[in-house]
Amino acid sequence: MAALYPRSAERLNLYAELLATEGTLRGLIGPREVPRLWDRHLLNCAFLERLIPESATVADVGSGAGLPGIVLALVRPDLEVALVEPLLRRTTFLTEAVEQLGLPNVEVVRSRAEDLRGRTFDVVASRAVAPLGRLAKWCLPLCAEGGVMLAMKGESAEAELAESRPELDALGAEDRKIHQLGVDELKQPTTVVSIVAGRAARGSQHGRIGR
Ligand SMILES: C[S@@+](CC[C@H](N)C(=O)[O-])C[C@H]1O[C@@H](n2cnc3c(N)ncnc32)[C@H](O)[C@@H]1O
Repeated sequence: MAALYPRSAERLNLYAELLATEGTLRGLIGPREVPRLWDRHLLNCAFLERLIPESATVADVGSGAGLPGIVLALVRPDLEVALVEPLLRRTTFLTEAVEQLGLPNVEVVRSRAEDLRGRTFDVVASRAVAPLGRLAKWCLPLCAEGGVMLAMKGESAEAELAESRPELDALGAEDRKIHQLGVDELKQPTTVVSIVAGRAARGSQHGRIGR
C-alpha cells in the first residue's frame, strides 16, 4: 500500500494501528480482523478513490470506525469527507481518530443517514451498511445534482442490484453499474455498485417520495 500511496503511507500506518488497538478494545473491529486489516479493509477501501472525481464532497454513510471514509480522506486530500454515523461510541472514536491523524478535510456527523436533511454531496459512499434497496433510499436523496452513490458490496452486488430494481426505479435511480477495482492488485478485488441520482431521488429529500 505504501507503494501505491507513498504520500499517505505514514498516516495509513497510524490509522491501522489505531484500529488494531483502540478499535478492537472498544469493540469496533473484531480481533480476528486485525491480521487482515490491510488486505480486507484498508486497501479495499482505498481503491474506491478511483471512482471519485477531483475535489468532490463525499459522505461515508454508516462509517463505523471510519471505513471507507477515513481511508479516502487519507489517500485523497483533495476530497471533503463527512463521516455519517449515528452511534455515539463510534463517533467518539471517529472524532479522536480524525484529530490524531490530523485530517482537516474530515467532518464527523452524528446522524442516521435518513435524518440528514438539507445536505447534499457529490458522492455518497458506504460499506456493509444495509441491503441495496434500503441503502438507496437513504443515500440517493443525499446526492447533489449529477451525484453518485457508491456502495461497496462484494459478491452479492449483482443479486442485490436485481432484487432492488423496483425500489431503484421508484427512486429514479439512473446509470446503475457494477465495478471491479484492483483486479490485478488485490487478492479479493473490491466490488462496487454505482448509481447516479436522478431528479426523483433528490426530490425525496423534501418528502416527495421514498419516505
Ligand atoms: C456493519 S457496520 C459497517 C461500518 C463500516 N462502514 C465498515 O465497513 O466497517 C454498519 C454501520 O452502519 C451504521 N448505521 C446503521 N444504520 C444507519 C443509518 N440509518 N444511517 C447511518 N448509519 C447507519 C451502524 O451504526 C454501523 O456503524
